[in-house]
Amino acid sequence: MENQYSNEFAAEDNSSGGTTRRGFLSQLTFAGAGLTLAPILTGTRVEAAENAPAEATAVENNAISLTVNGKKYSLESDSRVTLLDALRERLAMPGTKKGCDHGQCGACTVLVNGRRVNSCLTFAAMCEGDEITTIEGLASADTLHPMQEAFLKHDAFQCGYCTPGQICSAVGLVSEGRAKSDEEIKESMSGNICRCGAYRNIVSAIKEVQNTHA
Ligand code: FES
Ligand code: FES
Repeated sequence: MENQYSNEFAAEDNSSGGTTRRGFLSQLTFAGAGLTLAPILTGTRVEAAENAPAEATAVENNAISLTVNGKKYSLESDSRVTLLDALRERLAMPGTKKGCDHGQCGACTVLVNGRRVNSCLTFAAMCEGDEITTIEGLASADTLHPMQEAFLKHDAFQCGYCTPGQICSAVGLVSEGRAKSDEEIKESMSGNICRCGAYRNIVSAIKEVQNTHA
């Protein structure tokens, strides 16, 4: 995973622009169709838990209190529910994206107490008392967060699906006050995969925010 960002970045640099990306997307289509991509493309809500057969083992719901983007929410939830599903399915915040759902793509990255986490690998119940920030919480009123502005300015997204996770991760990276070189930025962002290969522009956007706001 750590080298994938750099490797795909290199592939983007070295290809003539079409073959590598098309080949990759083609593989992705066949590998992922019907599993992870269909709900994303159609906007179908994932309701597996709600549709579980009645004879399934009864699961006790517990009260969970979450603070998301500065606002407190209470919900009754199975203790196994991930932060990602709680955000998307229970709190109606679909900005955080579900890609692999296995901690491998970074699409679900949010900030918990300012630190980057994969929300698909984090139980919502573990986040009681924490400050959770999602992509929906970065802009204030009509003013975009500087990292959102920089992504727009540097054209740092193509399909945009990975973008919320990339932006949250980039915000966390800058606040960590490290990753000053291109290589360090790539290494630090290596958990966030962009299938379109917009890495060069993402690094440019991060560098601009580091130089002007850090
Ligand atoms: S959805 Fe891919 S890392 Fe969480
Ligand atoms: S996956 Fe398309 S912009 Fe990242």
